[in-house]
Amino acid sequence: MNSVAAIILAAGKGTRMKSGLVKVMHHLAGEPLIDYPVTAALNAGASRIVIVIGHQAETVQSFYSGRDGIAFAIQAEQNGTGHAVACAAPLLSDFRGKVLILCGDVPLIKEETLNGMVHEHELQGAVVTVLTTEVENPRGYGRILKNEAGHVIGIVEEKDATDGQRAIREINSGIYCVESGFLFDAVAGLSSDNAQGEYYLTDIMRIAAEKGLKCISHPIDDALEVMGINDRVQLAEAEAALRTRTNDAFMRDGVTIRDPKTAYLDPGTVIGRDTVIHPNVHISGDSVIGEQCVIEPSVVIRGCRIGNGVIVKAGSVLEGSIVHDSVSIGPMAHLRPGTELLEEVKIGNFVETKKIVMGKGSKASHLTYLGDASIGSEVNIGCGTITCNYDGVAKHRTVIGDNVFVGSDVQFVAPVTVGSNSLIAAGSTVTRDVPPDSLAIARSQQVNKEGWVKERARGAKRKAQD
Ligand code: UD1
Ligand code: CA
Repeated sequence: MNSVAAIILAAGKGTRMKSGLVKVMHHLAGEPLIDYPVTAALNAGASRIVIVIGHQAETVQSFYSGRDGIAFAIQAEQNGTGHAVACAAPLLSDFRGKVLILCGDVPLIKEETLNGMVHEHELQGAVVTVLTTEVENPRGYGRILKNEAGHVIGIVEEKDATDGQRAIREINSGIYCVESGFLFDAVAGLSSDNAQGEYYLTDIMRIAAEKGLKCISHPIDDALEVMGINDRVQLAEAEAALRTRTNDAFMRDGVTIRDPKTAYLDPGTVIGRDTVIHPNVHISGDSVIGEQCVIEPSVVIRGCRIGNGVIVKAGSVLEGSIVHDSVSIGPMAHLRPGTELLEEVKIGNFVETKKIVMGKGSKASHLTYLGDASIGSEVNIGCGTITCNYDGVAKHRTVIGDNVFVGSDVQFVAPVTVGSNSLIAAGSTVTRDVPPDSLAIARSQQVNKEGWVKERARGAKRKAQD
């Protein structure tokens, strides 16, 4: 059986982030950095993950609380990458197989790349495989040393390298696949006799080579995949790169994105074919969007399920809502959590909804608040309607039956129920239930005082002459 475990090195503080928050918990496209290598390792078949943490250990641990297969090793002092792996070793003492080693601050690594490395490792019968890439400027990275046969015989850190070694452009990504038996023996015997006085994980290459064990490099073309994040400039670069990757995938799957640079679509989102995404759209939180939808400029969608043929007009914000087929929303509408809109509903500008179900074909076209309500089908909600759902202590529901016509500027003082086919006159404040098929008028009678304005003008004139 091909058993794979992973160690994620994440004990460093990340000083260059200049932050109160530990580096690996900074967000990249809505998820903490650390979760990218963790997810890549899990997807590449790692059955167990050990995360080595130090600074703000609790913050990282609480993010993963309740997740099976993820354990934590505490490295109180950061004495080097070799020391970090040694700290993880006791948690994998019963493990036999291949250990993937990844860095918590190298988020763009792909599952396919890890699979490719493991495959090459097995094919070649290697004991250690290091993921490498060639870069124009190798500064700061460990350089890969090879023998004539092309096998790796060591990795030398920038600070320990000779001028000749510094010219080598194949660099250590900090990602490895190592046989567990060899790894844990080797890291237990490391020395810190080097320029930085650290226990270098990279020394395991030399140790293996000296024992005649096979070490290979697995070079990849895309240096971006192994880009480490050290500051917020690199964080933004990584986010742009990830966005390109994500948006390219959506476009290849049949989604039109008019301006991919300003489409902020979480990779966890599902978007159907022939849906058009306009500029500056943000979609996150495992949202699902159907086919042939139009998402107009500056729309924010978080954690929603949206059917087919839905149009969301400019400036609308949708959160935690379910929207069925052929609904039209906005411009500038706000669906708050717990909203469910059935087929062909129309929600117009400056309409806010919360915890409501609105039946097929119903409309609230302008300036309205609908909260804690159940609204039937083919209901017309007039401009300026408000469900007064809160009495200062508790929330109450408004129930409106099918085919009800609600005139403009109506308040429903909940709890209140309106039977189907009723008509609520404009300007009404509805405090009592309305039976089906009824007209409800709840406003003061109009009084016309004929000639009153002229009368007032005459009075004013007289006063001026006195
Ligand atoms: C290391 C490699 C270098 C490689 C580079 C790639 C060593 C000795 N050198 O460089 O060859 O090119 O990564 O980025 O391994 N960490 C801990 N505990 C520690 C030290 C580090 O958990 O005591 C973690 C860091 O949080 C980080 C990762 O290990 O996630 C890499 O550490 P970093 O200091 O960036 O690597 P270097 O030693 O500079
Ligand atoms: Ca580094």
